[in-house]
Amino acid sequence: MKRIALFASGSGSNAEKIAEYFADRPEVEISLILTNNPKAGVIERARRLHIPVLVFDRTTFYGSERIVRLLRKQEIDLVVLAGFMWLIPEALVRAFPNRMLNIHPALLPKYGGKGMYGHFVHEAVVSAGEAESGITIHFVNERYDEGAVVFQTACPLDPTDTPEDVARKVQVLEHRYFPEIVEKVLNQLK
Ligand code: GRF
Repeated sequence: MKRIALFASGSGSNAEKIAEYFADRPEVEISLILTNNPKAGVIERARRLHIPVLVFDRTTFYGSERIVRLLRKQEIDLVVLAGFMWLIPEALVRAFPNRMLNIHPALLPKYGGKGMYGHFVHEAVVSAGEAESGITIHFVNERYDEGAVVFQTACPLDPTDTPEDVARKVQVLEHRYFPEIVEKVLNQLK
C-alpha cells in the first residue's frame, strides 16, 4: 500500500481530482487531508470523499513537530501540496526529501515566489502579455516554488484573455495532469 497525504488551503478541486483518480487504485490510499484553513472548501470535499481531515494552526505547524510525527505514524509515502498557501517548515521538508510535491499555476521560474498565488499569478501573466501560461509540478524545498521541476505543460493564451480566462485554462491542465504525475512519482519511490 502506498499512502498519500494532501495539504490544501482553499477549495480543494485538485485534492478531489487526485482522490477520485486513486479511488479505483486499491494499492494507493489518500490517508489524510490536512488544512490550515478551518473554512477551506476542501474540508467538505474530504467529508464527501470519506477522507479524514486535520485542521491545524500556525502554532502547531511551525511551533511543533506534531504534523511530521503524525505523517510518519500514518506511514505517509508522499506529501502532495494541492493549493497550500503556507511555506513548509524545514523539519517537514527534511522529513520528506523528494517525497513532497507542489503544483504552481504558471510556468516557473517565471511568476513564482512569495505572494505569487491564485489570481495574482494570472494577473501578472496577462499584464505581461504572455502568449502562454501553464502549470509546474515540482518537489518542495525550503524556498517558495524553487524545488526541482517534475513536470510542466503549457496552454496558449489569446490577447483577449482575462486573468479569469487564464485561471480556467490553467485549471484544466491541473486537473488533467496532476493526478497522473502524482502516480508517476509514487511509482518511482524507492
Ligand atoms: C491551484 O491553482 C494550484 O495550482 C495552486 O492553488 C490552486 C488550488 O486550487 N497551487 P484548488 O484548491 O485545488 O481548487
